Amino acid sequence: MACSPLDYGLGGKSNNASPAAPSRLRRYYPKAPLSVIVLVVLVLGVQFLLLPRYMYHQSTNEINVSRFQLDRLDARLQKCAEYNTPPIKYPVTQAQSRTNPRWSPAGQNKVIVLKNATLFDGESFVSGSVDIVLNKGVFVSIFKSGEHSAFAQDAVILDLAGKYVTPGLVDMHSHHLAIPWPALKATRDENEMHPDTGPMTPQLRIVDSIKGYDLATEVIASGGVTTSLILPGSANIMGGEGMLVKNILKPGENSEFVVEDMLLEHGVPKENRRRFMKMACGENPKRQYGHTRMGNAWILRKHMERAKELMEKQDAWCLQATAVRESGNIASISEFMASSSKDESATDFLEYDSTIAMLRGKIGINIHCYEPEDFEDMISHSQEFGFRIQAFHHALSAWEVPEMIKATGQNITIATFAEFGFFKKEGYESNLWAGKILANHGVPVAYKSDHVTEETSAKYLLFQAATAHSFHLPEDLALQSVTSVPAKSLEIDHRIGYCSATTAGGTNINLQNGHVSPGLTAISNSLGLAEITTDPATSDGKVGQEGVNLDPKDLVFAKYGVHLEGKAFGRARLAGVTRAISPPMANGFNGGVSVGIKTSGKKTILNGGIFQGDVALHFGVGQVSIKTDSISSVSAGISKLRQIISDNGEKDNIYGRAVNGSFPLVVNVENEYDIMQLIQIKQDYPDLNLVLFGGSGAALVANELATAKIPLILTAARGAADTFEKRNALPGPPLSESPAAILSAAGVKFGLAIVGESDSHIHNTPIEASWAAKYAGLSDKQALDLVSRNLEEILGLEKTKDFVVYEGNPLDFGASVVVAFDGDDGSVSMCWPEST
Ligand SMILES: *[C@@H]1O[C@H](CO)[C@@H](O)[C@H](O)[C@H]1NC(C)=O
Ligand SMILES: *[C@@H]1O[C@H](CO)[C@@H](O)[C@H](O)[C@H]1NC(C)=O
Ligand SMILES: *[C@@H]1O[C@H](CO)[C@@H](O)[C@H](O)[C@H]1NC(C)=O
Repeated sequence: MACSPLDYGLGGKSNNASPAAPSRLRRYYPKAPLSVIVLVVLVLGVQFLLLPRYMYHQSTNEINVSRFQLDRLDARLQKCAEYNTPPIKYPVTQAQSRTNPRWSPAGQNKVIVLKNATLFDGESFVSGSVDIVLNKGVFVSIFKSGEHSAFAQDAVILDLAGKYVTPGLVDMHSHHLAIPWPALKATRDENEMHPDTGPMTPQLRIVDSIKGYDLATEVIASGGVTTSLILPGSANIMGGEGMLVKNILKPGENSEFVVEDMLLEHGVPKENRRRFMKMACGENPKRQYGHTRMGNAWILRKHMERAKELMEKQDAWCLQATAVRESGNIASISEFMASSSKDESATDFLEYDSTIAMLRGKIGINIHCYEPEDFEDMISHSQEFGFRIQAFHHALSAWEVPEMIKATGQNITIATFAEFGFFKKEGYESNLWAGKILANHGVPVAYKSDHVTEETSAKYLLFQAATAHSFHLPEDLALQSVTSVPAKSLEIDHRIGYCSATTAGGTNINLQNGHVSPGLTAISNSLGLAEITTDPATSDGKVGQEGVNLDPKDLVFAKYGVHLEGKAFGRARLAGVTRAISPPMANGFNGGVSVGIKTSGKKTILNGGIFQGDVALHFGVGQVSIKTDSISSVSAGISKLRQIISDNGEKDNIYGRAVNGSFPLVVNVENEYDIMQLIQIKQDYPDLNLVLFGGSGAALVANELATAKIPLILTAARGAADTFEKRNALPGPPLSESPAAILSAAGVKFGLAIVGESDSHIHNTPIEASWAAKYAGLSDKQALDLVSRNLEEILGLEKTKDFVVYEGNPLDFGASVVVAFDGDDGSVSMCWPEST
């Protein structure tokens, strides 16, 4: 379980910072405010004394004008002081001295004691078992287990019996709340792409897009992620300001959907809150506005130049105003204010406020940037205009230029993905070893989600750290990458990312144990058919309308387009995946006929690389089916499928074989009602060899599937209700039972596949099985069956004779394939496979 360290928002507003915060602020700049106060008192006093005299010489109107101007001058001088106050640095002090500014009695109202915990404190594992005391939304003390027993009478005491406790996980890049689940056009508010505003929108604030009711928030919290930085999207060169939130719905005293109550710095005065700017380089702004990289660079530099001019104007005005104010001369004050009121914008430039604050070092700059040339260019802009880059996000090529990044001296954090990649040119250098490489060069690494889709669900942030660790990012750094590193990078580590300052020794995991398993099988969306899924030049292309006219001679066969090479093949080998099934790249309803291929990279289509030419006939129904012009509704897709079945029952063609059950008919489907349609089809055509693929809603009709004897290739073992058709999908433990547990209990025959925009997750095939099996109470053998034997049985594949030797249990993170044998000819198909 995860505690949120210093601020875990157990229900509630958190208490605030403390009475201590304001006093620290005062200590920081003792002189300026004090002298201003003295001056104000003096001047007001003088004015009072002089008032009767003025009354003889000046009209009441004039007096009012000068007092009004004085008030305005003071208000603007107050702003001048704010411009020049550096952001507060809160020291990370003893937990005991802290309070939580968000706390209210509606939140944690009793002392909580977690006994016998194994604690990772943000830096490392504390040695031995500990008892942790939490009060009013903060960590108050940590004792060696049993050392202390006098806890508050009404304390809630939980015995963890050795379970793990970490600081609440910190995700420094998410879009939930701005794009709530399920996805609907009406509520997507992350990218301002209006032609009137264009690619420079630093003045926007994501807080204006946040809806305090996104149900994904609770799903995310259930993965231990208690804090997220919500950022604008990356369509714009400058996208606007981000906002830190706690992942808890309705945390306020009135328990309503109030955005302010969700903010991490709720309870901290607005002017003292952390600010974050989202920027972007490379493909996204280029695609959106049709500029080149050099065009984007100029747009940014021109904007920065203007912001710098305005900042200098602000400074000049503030200096002059201070001098006039200090003179105490009412006439000159009047004159100064009269002349500067002609220039209404002398200090307030709302449109440039964020950029000016950025030049003053008051905003953390977070930049979506993938490629070496984009880092280099952005670094050069930062040096030209004098701003510091807090983090490069996504940054899948950062591992290629760690020294360049380090040489900036800006201590730039790389906020990245552990594995998600290949989906576009910018993601093509994705490297599973990147975390280790960056760490070896002393570059701070944080893992982050980019949450809104199932594939980037923030709930599984810890999975990314675990994946990085399995590719040799040391254990403590891997855990830091989702706790203290993002907290420090965001300069909010006095509140989050740590449980205490205590440090102690780490633990070692011994992997010296061999395991043997059959070669695993992956069911893929694109393996061998697309290298960078969003770049058509690298892909076989999508199936068009050819088959929708029902003529079997128009069917598309993946075996005619497959290439047995590519980056994802390397990742498949890392996991002991020796075979894969790839359908043609679907474009809605019609998917064509899939092919069975070997992943060793040692075979071609001429010498055994294709182990089965025709595997199954594929269709898609539900929202996926209506992406084509000829199928305009979900019901039309179901009708078309019924028509194909009824027209071909007796025919000697591939459809006929599917209808009489001698060839599998795989239907990609998510929603439970669409699944029920398919159950009805199976009832009408009992011979049909119907297999479901996808199945976000399958657990909701598990008994019906079992009765109908319809098997499932589940792609949603860690699914998410990210779209409307999946809105009832179970979020999984701890919020609900796991889909695998329900399917298994109902007796549905199922296997697992991991699909996404590309095959960048394919190396986690056994881990995915392990996760599903853990919650479904399956044995290790049954777990591996989910990604081998079950798939063979469901699709009628010949049982593989491939086998794989691992060091370590393949069901644990960090196991490696030592050697694998090709069962068809006994050759070594892989030996210590390596991949990025
Ligand atoms: C928890 O720790 C106490 C000592 O503090 C010990 O008596 C107890 O057996 C422990 N419980 C478990 C489940 O380890
Ligand atoms: C650099 O940033 C990382 C992550 O924010 C932090 O842990 C580290 O202390 C920083 N190093 C320096 C020298 O500031
Ligand atoms: C199914 O149909 C195909 C094509 O008409 C035929 O060749 C095959 O023998 C049939 N199989 C069964 C089990 O009926």
